[in-house]
Amino acid sequence: MRTRARRLFVVALALAFAPAAAASCSLRTESGEFGDLPDRASFVDNNVSLFMEVRCGGLDCHGQVGRPLRIYGQTGLRLKARDDGLRDNSPTTDEERTENYRSVVGLEPEALSECFESKGEKIATFQLLKKPLGIENDGIRHKGGPVLRPTQSDPGWQCLYGWVSDNVDAAECERASKITP
Ligand code: HEM
Repeated sequence: MRTRARRLFVVALALAFAPAAAASCSLRTESGEFGDLPDRASFVDNNVSLFMEVRCGGLDCHGQVGRPLRIYGQTGLRLKARDDGLRDNSPTTDEERTENYRSVVGLEPEALSECFESKGEKIATFQLLKKPLGIENDGIRHKGGPVLRPTQSDPGWQCLYGWVSDNVDAAECERASKITP
């Protein structure tokens, strides 16, 4: 009797939640609605993650879990704490670089896709590019200040702008990652 009642209860529960589950599953996923986006391999293999880990990922900057643009890395925020509680200085993991990619692409996927498909023409409201320029360099107000300059001579700008414009240069990104903030 009791088992039968329990089974009936479970079925009733499932029926009660089925519509909500169906609705949540049927919510249109974000990814389907955008144009082309640069992929994870281009972000990691061309040192874009490395550049952002060094130049944006400081613990008082984007190395914080609360930042929409959250960056993990060897010298900043770590995805996993060490069991002994000590600071983990081991190299940035693949998993952390995947999280960095997701954070960067997930920030403004429409604007990123528009910039990527227009080969860097359409960037007017693209925060990922405009914030690090600061108001000083024709960007928007940024608590981190003008980290980049929109010039040929700034490897950091060449790296980030190149990646979002489908014209990434791994050497520029590596050079930019060697400039300490
Ligand atoms: C090239 C490197 C960097 C890029 C691409 C970048 C980009 C951005 C973006 C897109 C935002 C808005 C999303 C968010 O709030 O997370 C932002 C905000 C912020 N950034 Fe950065 N940033 C960089 C470097 C830095 C550095 C070095 C610092 C610290 C010195 C910093 C501090 C902040 C803070 C405090 C905010 C939140 C307040 C605000 O909106 O201005 N950023 N940054």
